[in-house]
Amino acid sequence: MRNKSLLAGLLATGVLCLSSALGATKATVTVATFGETQDGEVVHVYTLKNRNGLSADIMTYGATVVRLMAPDRHGQLADVLLGFDNLADYENKSPYFGCVVGRYGNRIADGTFTLDGKTYTLAVNNADENVNAHLHGGNKGFDKVVWRAKPVITGHDAGVTLWHTSPDGDEGYPGTLEMKVTYFLTDNNELSIHYHATTDQATPINLTNHMYFNLQGEGIGDINGHFLTLNADHYTPVDIGLIPTGEIAPVAGTPMDFTTPRAIGERNNADHDQIRFGGGYDHNWVLNQADSGMTEAGEVYEPTTGRVMTIMTEEPGIQFYGGNFLEVDGVVRVGKSGVTYRHRTGFCLETQHYPDSPNQPNFPSTILRPGETYDTTTVYRFWAR
Ligand code: GLA
Repeated sequence: MRNKSLLAGLLATGVLCLSSALGATKATVTVATFGETQDGEVVHVYTLKNRNGLSADIMTYGATVVRLMAPDRHGQLADVLLGFDNLADYENKSPYFGCVVGRYGNRIADGTFTLDGKTYTLAVNNADENVNAHLHGGNKGFDKVVWRAKPVITGHDAGVTLWHTSPDGDEGYPGTLEMKVTYFLTDNNELSIHYHATTDQATPINLTNHMYFNLQGEGIGDINGHFLTLNADHYTPVDIGLIPTGEIAPVAGTPMDFTTPRAIGERNNADHDQIRFGGGYDHNWVLNQADSGMTEAGEVYEPTTGRVMTIMTEEPGIQFYGGNFLEVDGVVRVGKSGVTYRHRTGFCLETQHYPDSPNQPNFPSTILRPGETYDTTTVYRFWAR
């Protein structure tokens, strides 16, 4: 019902922006109003549609992917992303559904780091008796701002580019950061995300997208039966506060080993310190061959529908988060289809640099300096078998 009213609204207000001139069926981008923020800012949603009928809805609040229709083995489309059908829920109770997170995606220990001899203090927005961290950019990260946007079509690929300027001192970070994120839904059934940024002062940066997937379809059951493969022989173990210890540890012989396909639910309650600390999976894997450009990071297969998602990235790491806090944080979240999202009903695979890199000298650097360009692409490909 909720889904239908959202769709009806989009159709009623949708304006055809762009369509590709090539081919029988065209790739299109349409725009509609998604809502208005509590501060009165209008938020738009761009619907990218490719020639195979796949579509992705991206809204300007948080540069968020709000819906992604992907085919099963019979060609049946379903929305494979968790999310809400209204802006107020995104503003008030979203656990980062589908958004771009930054300036630093993931955790920075104690919300502090030292760069070029100067110590910076960031918000500690992730704290309890064991945890004390800056998470996903702070109190008002890039997930909570309205981005500027423009539709774009290249060949058969339907896209949208979003811009945001993060001012010097934003959430405690140094330098004015100019960002551009482009989403494309390609002819090859890929959602590609291209991140671009420049700065006028040295700053840490680690942008990612925080989509929660359920390849059965949003609102349908848990994710325990999905099979995950990660192209990673190592991971970064964490302490009880989910901060990396600095070690790059082999996955072999641990529940972190996804070098061959394993059901997510097989070991997510395992008697193992790392699983206890994360309440399940909530860790960074170190991708093999990460320095050789775009590499295959992993794959998820859902056997009942046959849906497969393959992830490619230029990033050195990937956070696999198993939706462990979807229910236990005390917030009731009713999703797009009217179903309450329970424990582990969605998972995230966030391509990234390793958590807490600004405080970890042996991790690849996340510092962007004036004159340099932050440029990185991640691709999620949807198919079925
Ligand atoms: C992440 C973190 C998790 C959790 C979620 C949001 O990916 O690693 O610990 O905070 O975001 O709920």
